[in-house]
Amino acid sequence: MPEAGQDLHHGHERDQTSHGNRLHHKNIGVNLGGGVGIPYRPEEEPVDLPALGREIRAVYEARIMPNGLHPLKIALELGRAITGPYGYLVSRVLHKKETYKNYVGLDASMANLMRPGMYGAYHHITVPGKEDWPHDQVYDVTGSLCENNDKFAIDRWLPRIDVGDLVVIHDTGAHGHSMGFNYNGKLRSAELLLRPDGGVTMIRRAETVEDYFRTIDFSQLENMDGDSRPSERHISQYTAVGK
Ligand SMILES: Cc1ncc(COP(=O)(O)O)c(C=O)c1O
Repeated sequence: MPEAGQDLHHGHERDQTSHGNRLHHKNIGVNLGGGVGIPYRPEEEPVDLPALGREIRAVYEARIMPNGLHPLKIALELGRAITGPYGYLVSRVLHKKETYKNYVGLDASMANLMRPGMYGAYHHITVPGKEDWPHDQVYDVTGSLCENNDKFAIDRWLPRIDVGDLVVIHDTGAHGHSMGFNYNGKLRSAELLLRPDGGVTMIRRAETVEDYFRTIDFSQLENMDGDSRPSERHISQYTAVGK
């Protein structure tokens, strides 16, 4: 018999009625998880959520209701589909390099958006004020980490980009800031909310150097007068900790 909250597909085929009745007061549900995609590329279509809902209802009516399991809670853990399309990473172009390839270097990095560098994922990029310019330049759009896979785009057709331009990286509302890190001393950015009235509210401040060092505690090292061998007091202190 599955415990409260445990997925139901373990052997619930047998002995339906008794399971069903006991399930009702056990507050049992089915969690369908997350994983509903979003259209990262302009030519892609969003998932038809109403159609998905109709499919889930059809399975529910075909499998759950005839087996006496109704009412059964159905849960979804949608992340990307809820927040993904509504986040943008706005970054400034700090560098340009034209060698055997054309590179533009941003002030953002994988610490702000890991997906392109980690999965080779596509995120659409636009250049405010140049949306209608011909996209006749090919660039690698790189981040500011000392890592060669810190790239937001490779061989991407874009309008001519100049140092100082802003670029907007789309669909970063999921698996973006939340996957951030402080490697290379990178401090995570502020998050701003664009309100329906066009106003902007900062909902998360940018990290500071103090934040970066906040969890470091050297206080136990203050008595180390150049002698790295632990003194009796240190040994007693640490053996006390170990007990
Ligand atoms: C347990 C679990 N539930 C839900 C989600 C959300 O998935 P998505 O953002 O693809 O909807 C994740 C994503 O990693 C997950 O690990």
